[in-house]
Amino acid sequence: MSLWQTAIEDALAKTKRNIERFGERFPHVSTDGGKSYVLTNNDDWTDGFWSGMLWLCYEYSGDEAYREAAVRTVASFRERLEANRVLDHHDIGFLYSPSAKAQWIIERDEEARRLALRAADKLMARWREQGQYIQAWGPAGDPVNGGRIIIDCLMNLPLLHWAYEQTGEERYRRTAVLHADKSRRYLVRGDDSSYHTFHFKPENGEPVGGDTAQGYTNGSTWTRGQAWGVYGFALSYRYTRDAKYLETSKRLARFFLSHLPEDHVAYWDFDVPVDDATYRDSSASAIVSAGLLELLDLIERDDPDRAHFEEGVRRTMESLVRNYATIDKPDVDGLISRGSYHVRGNSSPDDFVVWGDYFYLEALVRLEKGIKGYWEESDRG
Ligand code: GLY
Repeated sequence: MSLWQTAIEDALAKTKRNIERFGERFPHVSTDGGKSYVLTNNDDWTDGFWSGMLWLCYEYSGDEAYREAAVRTVASFRERLEANRVLDHHDIGFLYSPSAKAQWIIERDEEARRLALRAADKLMARWREQGQYIQAWGPAGDPVNGGRIIIDCLMNLPLLHWAYEQTGEERYRRTAVLHADKSRRYLVRGDDSSYHTFHFKPENGEPVGGDTAQGYTNGSTWTRGQAWGVYGFALSYRYTRDAKYLETSKRLARFFLSHLPEDHVAYWDFDVPVDDATYRDSSASAIVSAGLLELLDLIERDDPDRAHFEEGVRRTMESLVRNYATIDKPDVDGLISRGSYHVRGNSSPDDFVVWGDYFYLEALVRLEKGIKGYWEESDRG
């Protein structure tokens, strides 16, 4: 069995067992250093990743047990939208792409398609026409967050691009393109590093300045943010074929790969002083691996970065499987240890984080069988 197959078999076994363990609830993060997940009632930004893991396991194995559990999560997401439970934020794409949109992609379920389109409208409600951006957090006019964009949001834009493809309604595409352009101009810095967040004057969109919420300092580069940028700009290119997004994703990827420690798995920030106690964020490396696989699918055969990016994925994924995966701990809930949610906030700094597990599995099944995640559906036939 190949290294990837060994890791996938472990993921399949843990996910099947977790279907029983989690019941109708959703894994979020661990708080015990990596043994068991804290579960939610489908009321956090992370709940779509469990749904996505179930769909990936189903697509890989064909085992109906994963499908049945995945379909139950989509029903839960329908109920969540109808109850409007904790949906007033930008993370609607993280919730509804790997759940309802995944069901549409895999089995052309019309109800799931309609649900994902309603979710896209929910995300559209975050668009601020005066400032020309998608507000990440908080209500319109909020004194702290009213003018804030965040780099993570690039992964929510595919839901809008997909809604445009499905409906032909230009407003979805316009919003996604204008927001990506603003993110590119203000979140990406001249040296190819990135701000986690940036503020604008809500009344006219004038730039105010960049800062961070989860990084080390305002001017540092939060590794997970950089990873969201690599994958997010690649997906903006996938949908628009506008070369500037591809170039931006490549720039962010080169920066990421050239700032890694010896074992090729990122610390939680590229600028944090490193000693033996410094936390990793294995989820940043899982996300960037999945993002690099998307990039590799988009660049030309003879692209000068191809070998470097291929090597980056291989080294990172080998290290995640050999040094971070829980293959030798069959009883724990998570697939990879040493994720960091919010180190400065002392929130799960060295734990399982479900998005880390999701992107690790997405990268594995893409490497092994060419199965993609649920951010876009081109080339699926
Ligand atoms: N999108 C939230 C996070 O990456 O923590």
